[in-house]
Amino acid sequence: MGRYANAAVVAGALFQGAFAQVRNAYETNTDFVQGNTLDAIETEGSWNNPPVVASTFDDIKNSGYKGIRLPVTWTYHFTSQSPDWTVDAKWLQRVEDVIDMILSRGFYAIVNVHHDSWTWADLTKADTNVTMVEEKMYKLWYQIGTKLGCKSSALAFETINEIPGTTAEHGKTINRLNTIFLQAINDAGGFNAKRVVTLVGAGEDGLKTTQWFERPDKKFTNPWGIQWHYYSPYDFIFSAWGKTTWGSDADKAALDADFALVRNNFTDVPLVVGEWAASVQNTETAARWRYFDFLARTAAKYNTSTIIWDNGVDFLDRAAHQWRDPVAQDIYINAVKGIPNALPDSTTDGSTTQQSSAYIYHKKGTNITDVTLGFQFNGNKLSKNIVVAATKKSLTQGRDYTLSGESITFKSSFLATLFTPTSATGSLANLTLTFNRGTALTINAIQYATPSLTTTSSKLPATSSDLLIPLKWQGQTRPATIKAVKLDGTYLFDEWTQYLPELQRGRITYNGQWDWTAEGVVLRAATLEAVRAGGLDTAFTIEFYPREPGNAVNYTLNV
Ligand SMILES: *[C@@H]1O[C@H](CO)[C@@H](O)[C@H](O)[C@H]1NC(C)=O
Ligand SMILES: *[C@@H]1O[C@H](CO)[C@@H](O)[C@H](O)[C@H]1NC(C)=O
Ligand SMILES: *[C@@H]1O[C@H](CO)[C@@H](O)[C@H](O)[C@H]1NC(C)=O
Ligand SMILES: *[C@@H]1O[C@H](CO)[C@@H](O)[C@H](O)[C@H]1NC(C)=O
Ligand SMILES: *[C@@H]1O[C@H](CO)[C@@H](O)[C@H](O)[C@H]1NC(C)=O
Ligand SMILES: *[C@@H]1O[C@H](CO)[C@@H](O)[C@H](O)[C@H]1NC(C)=O
Repeated sequence: MGRYANAAVVAGALFQGAFAQVRNAYETNTDFVQGNTLDAIETEGSWNNPPVVASTFDDIKNSGYKGIRLPVTWTYHFTSQSPDWTVDAKWLQRVEDVIDMILSRGFYAIVNVHHDSWTWADLTKADTNVTMVEEKMYKLWYQIGTKLGCKSSALAFETINEIPGTTAEHGKTINRLNTIFLQAINDAGGFNAKRVVTLVGAGEDGLKTTQWFERPDKKFTNPWGIQWHYYSPYDFIFSAWGKTTWGSDADKAALDADFALVRNNFTDVPLVVGEWAASVQNTETAARWRYFDFLARTAAKYNTSTIIWDNGVDFLDRAAHQWRDPVAQDIYINAVKGIPNALPDSTTDGSTTQQSSAYIYHKKGTNITDVTLGFQFNGNKLSKNIVVAATKKSLTQGRDYTLSGESITFKSSFLATLFTPTSATGSLANLTLTFNRGTALTINAIQYATPSLTTTSSKLPATSSDLLIPLKWQGQTRPATIKAVKLDGTYLFDEWTQYLPELQRGRITYNGQWDWTAEGVVLRAATLEAVRAGGLDTAFTIEFYPREPGNAVNYTLNV
């Protein structure tokens, strides 16, 4: 929600643990990326975040992180062209000032060349002049290296963010760019011959890095590691095709294999996943918590540091100084330290009605019954009575809930105190589960009703722009997914999804095809264009949480 295209996801990484590993300790620690800020196009403040303030770094420090990856876009700050490519002195100074804010708080830091990879350094564009890319890379890094050459060894450099490359030839060029980068910072002097660097493969993609990356010339004395990025599985991370679940054995095996591939190719090289995320905005909560836990532990298993990407919308509310999902945040920090976390169960495939132990859902107007939720305690024990978070009111075990193995049953008599005949829809309470170690979990008690639409169809507008379908949220304040079916029964997008499990078929993709606001659901312009191209009336089924039969409404666009 409120995203600035997929770019924003890439533009806001928090930096979890990456590069202290590269530097000295070779331990997995916790870092955070300050995204959508100095990397914004065209400049700081252009995207969803105001300019950097030092207090944000205090918040990150107090939350247990050890480093910050500071992405910086330089494209719009050159004051001369070829051959000098002079960088605006004010911009270089601003970058130095922000780095000083970071280093003075005892963080490690990584600074890079960020969305330049979308403009002058995109090797996949037919008109890209590779000689010019090489020239610019040298000149830019020489200036950055000169400006920052005397910073402490806690500052590391990263060649370039996610430089596009699709062929072995591009892979070779990127290896050359890593060399040019090393040459430039070494020529710039200062401490740079000893500075830690993270080198990159095409797209900072794990697979492509294993295919094409070559080690730098031994004449460079810089301690180096490889940085790669991880946003997988695509459907879960980006809410495509109704994938509101994660955590099957197959899901876990795939993540493990992705980390193993890179590690097994580079057994003696420090590895940093410089970006990863599963956003609070658009992933199902229990699935997200288990993903955080599993990713952090798998990274540790393969001796790989991780940096979480935050675009200012996903995780840290920089203005409020609060984590939007404090449980996920805590799971991450504990998992990195190797402390077991108890985790909530949830459905792991799309074939049935979905259950999530991060919630107690009660349908307004229905009778209240006992609710049993399953957990994976992972050796932990509940160490206190469950409490209502806001009031700190303690529940009584036996009377209000019972514990059996790793299942907790909330008694209808207790639930009737939350879900009264007059209580509103929406979140009514959070219940806190405290364990003898690891993260305290919360269960969000939500009363819901299926929202109704005032209008259930409209004529496709003559020109395509985003279309708001107004509705009043009555439970979670976001949809689960949207299905789009043409009058002839075929899907508006991705006909192949007919082979997916029932709850994924014909579902379309968040951000590019659908979105939402406080006022309702948004069909994106691209979706309207697809209806026009399809030439048939198209029915959109907007599905809500919990995903169960009937908790959906239909809206038809008539051509
Ligand atoms: C490519 O860039 C180099 C270096 O800036 C320049 O000398 C050359 O003329 C450029 N080639 C073309 C075709 O523009
Ligand atoms: C290294 O990467 C290549 C290319 O992806 C792959 O084919 C190979 O199996 C990997 N090697 C190991 C030991 O994992
Ligand atoms: C982790 O990797 C670093 C080098 O990157 C190495 O020094 C260290 O021994 C590794 N630790 C383990 C447990 O393999
Ligand atoms: C709901 O509770 C009332 C009163 O106990 C009972 O008469 C009714 O049958 C219940 N409805 C359902 C669907 O269980
Ligand atoms: C419960 O927690 C969620 C997530 O932090 C929050 O959005 C919601 O407002 C909370 N509910 C109450 C009643 O405080
Ligand atoms: C929405 O449309 C689908 C497919 O035509 C239908 O099965 C479902 O009953 C409709 N749902 C509602 C709430 O009208």
